[in-house]
Amino acid sequence: MSTTSFPEGFVWGVSTSAFQIEGATSADGRGPSIWDGFSADRVEACDHYHRHPEDVQLMKDLGMAAYRFSVSWARVIPAGSGKVNEAGLDFYDRLLDELLAAGITPYATLYHWDLPQAIEDNGGWPARDTARHFADYAAAVHDRLGDRVDTWFTLNEPWVAAFLGYGAGIHAPGRKSAADAFTAAHHMLLAHGLAVQALRAGGAAKVGAVLNISPVLTPAQVSDFGRTLSEEDAEAVTRIDALANRQFLDPMLRGAYPADLLPIIERSVGLGHVQDGDLGLIAQPIDLLGVNYYTPLVVQAQPSEPADPAFPGSEGVLFCTVPTAVTAMGWSIVPNCLSLLLGRLSREYPGIDLMVTENGADFVDVVTGDGIHDVDRINFIEEHLRALRAAVEDGAPVRGYLVWTLLDNLEWSDGYQRKFGLVHVDFATQRRRPKDSALWYRDVIARNGLPETRQKRPTLETVAARAGVSRATVSRVVNGEASVSPEVRAAVMQAVRELGYVPNAAARSLVTRRTNAIALVLSVPRQGGDPLTAAVVQYVTSLLEGAGKQITLMLADTAESHRRIVSHVEAGLSDGVVLLPPERADTLAERLSRIGVPVVLLGKPPIASLVPYVDVDNAGGATTATEHLIARGRRTIGMICGPMDLVAVQDRLAGHREALQRAGMRPLLALADDLTRAAGKAAAHRLLGDEPSLDAIFAASDQLAIGALQAAREAGRRVPEDLAIVGFDDVDAASATTPALTTVRVPVADQALALARLMLSRLEGRHTTSVVLPARLVVRDST
Ligand code: FCB
Repeated sequence: MSTTSFPEGFVWGVSTSAFQIEGATSADGRGPSIWDGFSADRVEACDHYHRHPEDVQLMKDLGMAAYRFSVSWARVIPAGSGKVNEAGLDFYDRLLDELLAAGITPYATLYHWDLPQAIEDNGGWPARDTARHFADYAAAVHDRLGDRVDTWFTLNEPWVAAFLGYGAGIHAPGRKSAADAFTAAHHMLLAHGLAVQALRAGGAAKVGAVLNISPVLTPAQVSDFGRTLSEEDAEAVTRIDALANRQFLDPMLRGAYPADLLPIIERSVGLGHVQDGDLGLIAQPIDLLGVNYYTPLVVQAQPSEPADPAFPGSEGVLFCTVPTAVTAMGWSIVPNCLSLLLGRLSREYPGIDLMVTENGADFVDVVTGDGIHDVDRINFIEEHLRALRAAVEDGAPVRGYLVWTLLDNLEWSDGYQRKFGLVHVDFATQRRRPKDSALWYRDVIARNGLPETRQKRPTLETVAARAGVSRATVSRVVNGEASVSPEVRAAVMQAVRELGYVPNAAARSLVTRRTNAIALVLSVPRQGGDPLTAAVVQYVTSLLEGAGKQITLMLADTAESHRRIVSHVEAGLSDGVVLLPPERADTLAERLSRIGVPVVLLGKPPIASLVPYVDVDNAGGATTATEHLIARGRRTIGMICGPMDLVAVQDRLAGHREALQRAGMRPLLALADDLTRAAGKAAAHRLLGDEPSLDAIFAASDQLAIGALQAAREAGRRVPEDLAIVGFDDVDAASATTPALTTVRVPVADQALALARLMLSRLEGRHTTSVVLPARLVVRDST
């Protein structure tokens, strides 16, 4: 095996799940599932139910050897138990024939969270009968499809299904009970054991389960796994490991609950639901353990901390965010954890083959005329494959790797805003387009290994991920600052060398005065919160790079970083600065332009300034949206405002007030602390509670508006009949909500283009003025 190749016979492929791609939720006798009604979004998903021939062809073209999909229980047994719906099985029958004809090995998962609603109505997973029904369903599926599927997975990530679904209530069915969560988890384990028996009885060749195993670390361990812990921190780590990982690993693979977990379960719900003989049933021998890995759990002891509802029994443990590179989902990127975790499994649970059944990342994708250049996703997968390869080298029996996922899809409670696909899906047309990552992965599969040369343009992000530190740390190291420890500096410099990263034009600028470099200064990183800004950042980067400029990304999140940016520019290391977006009332833009380099801003600055900017007409868009509601006959209109220190929010509020004033109506405002769905939902509930006659809501962003849609449904208000809702931004998800959201479109590509043009003409010394782009109302069904 060379340094970049994988063992012979290593299995390459992708994973998907039924609810996230199939759509067709009432076709051919399918019964309702708990996710159909829980999802705030349209459930057509990728319409894979009808487009599977195209999707299989796509996988064939990409050279996939394996495809892990899940079977929808509600398609096969619409009422959850009892009569089998042959028409539902026909779909999987066709799919399997196509896969086999394409030379792709199917891996079937029997449960990926979409419980039949009828089973939930009879108690759901906290009811013991559910385990028995699941085994019957497994037998029915195997009966029909067993001749073409060799490898069966019973459950996908039972921790998520039990603790997010029944404990924290953020997944379907949305219950919030620690007792229900522990009972559900036990019955899932039991269902697994019974299904393994049923599958074996039917003659299944290989059977396993898929778990999300999360390495549990303290913040200090993220950059140094070997770090010794205080007694308190060690206890916190062990307790969370019991709840997240060993709760499932130990019963399945050792036939016992971890001794340190039993008292926690007992305190929450007692142990009456664990009957004699259960653990023997659960611990059926299995052939393959599927491991899903995305990000570690980072915790530390913190005496006053209340329990997190997703981890009942976690009192005194703080869940931490660490300054590593993150995906758009906000998940820390720590590739080496994959080696750590595969090594651990092979040592502590020996004798079972392992397969990475999910790994992948949500990044903001920008569709350009010549494709989707998702370098971040490629880097993410490449880094994780290197980590996987290191584990194999150390003897972990890892047989394959499946990327999550083939298509951009319906990401559970987060809807269509998340982009995990190797293939882009336009949800208005269902058009599929392979991203660069798909083509890159095709090459990896073809050579059974990683490319010898790395991606042409390693980014600061890649270096940060490789070294396990934040982007800010990398930039501190490459800018030669003293505030970094020698160990961290060595790790960063090693990553820089290995990746062949060219830090910035610093070296060159010493020779020529003109550096050809532009600093892109991100003033507030709103990870996960603001997909549009992220898209503009990415697009403007590629436009400026296309114009031959070298981009240095810098974060302006602290006073110290402001000083660093100013001295970077004063030292002549940048010809120009693009500042995105000046959300807080600071004077960085002014200070930078006084140095004499051109500065341009994304977004109108909070303080009047001579620095030119590109913005959309936030006030005008809000006026149009509000006038639209008035024209629809709405008389009691509330507004959900985002954080008032955002200039765009201030302007949207001003535009809204203006329209109301003209109509002689008074404003009704609810403030949201941030721009998330959760904040929008809470604010909408307040408006509905305070104002019984409320008949319309204008929200300052689409995510807030989607939260308002959820609140309306919870409050039993019909949209648009009882309540019209308008958002702002027109993010992808807006066209896919139920009902589809009326919103104000912010033209992302036009903004990036205008910003790049403004910068380039200022570099050429031309006089330029600010650009305000029109924000157009897009009318959909929510009004
Ligand atoms: C995993 C799930 C999968 C998808 C990814 C992002 O936990 O199994 O369905 O949601 O996360």
